[in-house]
Amino acid sequence: MGGNPFFPLDEVGAEADGTEMMIFPEVDQAIYDRRKKMAGTVVDYKEMRMRYSCAIKEVRTKFDVLNSEFNVRYRRNPITSISSRLKSSSSIMSKLARKNLDFTLENVENNLYDVAGIRVVCSYVDDIYVLAQALAKQDDITVIKEKDYITNPKPNGYRSYHMIVSVPVFFSDQTRDMAVEVQIRTIAMDFWASLEHQLKYKQEVPNQMEIVGRLTECAHQIADIDEQMWQVRRQIELSEDIPTEEDILLEKLSRIDIAINE
Ligand code: GTP
Ligand code: MG
Repeated sequence: MGGNPFFPLDEVGAEADGTEMMIFPEVDQAIYDRRKKMAGTVVDYKEMRMRYSCAIKEVRTKFDVLNSEFNVRYRRNPITSISSRLKSSSSIMSKLARKNLDFTLENVENNLYDVAGIRVVCSYVDDIYVLAQALAKQDDITVIKEKDYITNPKPNGYRSYHMIVSVPVFFSDQTRDMAVEVQIRTIAMDFWASLEHQLKYKQEVPNQMEIVGRLTECAHQIADIDEQMWQVRRQIELSEDIPTEEDILLEKLSRIDIAINE
């Protein structure tokens, strides 16, 4: 290892004995300071992304735990999949620009709440509310914002339950409260949102209005299917005999060896 990274060798003079000699010291000091500051900012930015990435792990684990608990207690997994994403640097930059803000770490942390994002996909609509409440009531979770696009869908038909939560993340030298955007939706809602998102990029298609209308109609039909699937499950549950305490214990015993990894 040799040399100063803020001053590569091609910008300094080299003495015959191998030592470095600065050229134009008064100008070089300014360049040195600027580069050092830039390098510091890059390191801080990387650390900030690491913090958001750890916040995702924290919240993701909470949903994993809830799913495991449901699996053992009620013999079903309310969650079919969990995905997460860290907002890309270019998306962070464009969102700050839309808000007329400079790209600084303070502006990211104080103004953007979707740098860390988690999407939880459930089987049934009622699972969404069970999971949202279970998360919200955890001691270390603070709900900053909630939007129920299921009770109040967007005009285009988009449905999902959105939460912005703050979670403390423990590092070796500090604890940081980090914001995480959580989207909870059914498989059917996810199906619609994923396809609608892809189709949004195909802007050159003629008859845009007609396409938007058809997509909204699909969203209504999907909402209807969600409702019917939930009713079918309820009907099956209600028709089942009410188990005795012994039945429940025997059922739990029979499941004791099932791997608890989901
Ligand atoms: P953004 O600035 O886009 O983050 O919106 P917002 O802060 O007003 O929040 P909102 O709750 O409306 O949306 C946040 C996220 O939900 C988006 O980034 C999408 O992932 C998703 N979303 C919201 N509306 C739609 C929609 O109409 N279609 C699809 N496919 N996804 C949507
Ligand atoms: Mg967003």
